[in-house]
Amino acid sequence: MIAGSRRLTGAPKGVALVCALAFAMACAMAAAAPSAASKPGEAVAPCEACHGAHGEGMAAAHVPRIAGQSAQYLKKQLDDYADGTRDNPVMRNFAKALSDQQRSTLAARYAVMPATPRPQAASPRPQTTALDAVQQARGHQLAYQGDEQRRVAACNSCHGPDGVGVLHAAPYLAGQSADYLTSALKSFQQDTRRNDAGELMRSVAKQLDDADIAAISGYFSSIQ
Ligand code: HEC
Ligand code: HEC
Repeated sequence: MIAGSRRLTGAPKGVALVCALAFAMACAMAAAAPSAASKPGEAVAPCEACHGAHGEGMAAAHVPRIAGQSAQYLKKQLDDYADGTRDNPVMRNFAKALSDQQRSTLAARYAVMPATPRPQAASPRPQTTALDAVQQARGHQLAYQGDEQRRVAACNSCHGPDGVGVLHAAPYLAGQSADYLTSALKSFQQDTRRNDAGELMRSVAKQLDDADIAAISGYFSSIQ
């Protein structure tokens, strides 16, 4: 019961928090974009509020971990948010407020932060990522073999062995929160995220059903 009610209330609260933060900080940033004055590897205040002091993200609010993601991938996402290729009401305002140089600096800064394991104990909803044996097997299958009948290529064929990412090709998935992976897959599936060159991810996501998305998101989030 407790786990169930937490599951129902956790995400909306987190999302509401992010929206409130977004409004407050978009104003602050319009006045002063991040100075890029902190040392390499340190987070920058406006980003830190949502992505955490160590770039670890905020699972319940679908805020991705960005620590240790490649600078090239992070820069592309910031550019895409800024020019609307990747449309997101929260990130749009932050990315637009930055110069091209500032986007490069921030991307480089987060890329060198270690992608530390998410603190399971501190997670407000640890139950949501626990997979049963069937989901675990399905997640592993999609990651390593894909699904030939449904024309889904193995995730790891692009995202690297164990989903650790491939420089200049695809981001890491391993250790990313299940909540964010699910929201990212759904946005590709529903065409609300369209910044994947050649529709590589949209074509994959459209072949997945809800059970697949739950399995593969839980699977990758459980790998550190
Ligand atoms: C108000 C909360 C908030 C703040 C502040 C914020 N972000 Fe985000 N960020 C998000 C959310 C939510 C997403 C996921 C949006 C989506 O689904 O497209 C995101 C996504 C991203 C992504 C894409 C990551 C990926 O895996 O594709 C990058 C890069 C990023 N943010 C960088 C930054 C930087 C740099 C700053 C500071 C200038 C910043 N963010 C400030 C909430 C925030
Ligand atoms: C043909 C190559 C390819 C395959 C196969 C593939 N992906 Fe991707 N994926 C990509 C690329 C490229 C991106 C980055 C798109 C961009 O530039 O934003 C991506 C992005 C993603 C993202 C967004 C990550 C983030 O931080 O926002 C998720 C989630 C994802 N893929 C999950 C999967 C899963 C799950 C599978 C297997 C079912 C899979 N991918 C198979 C190429 C692929």
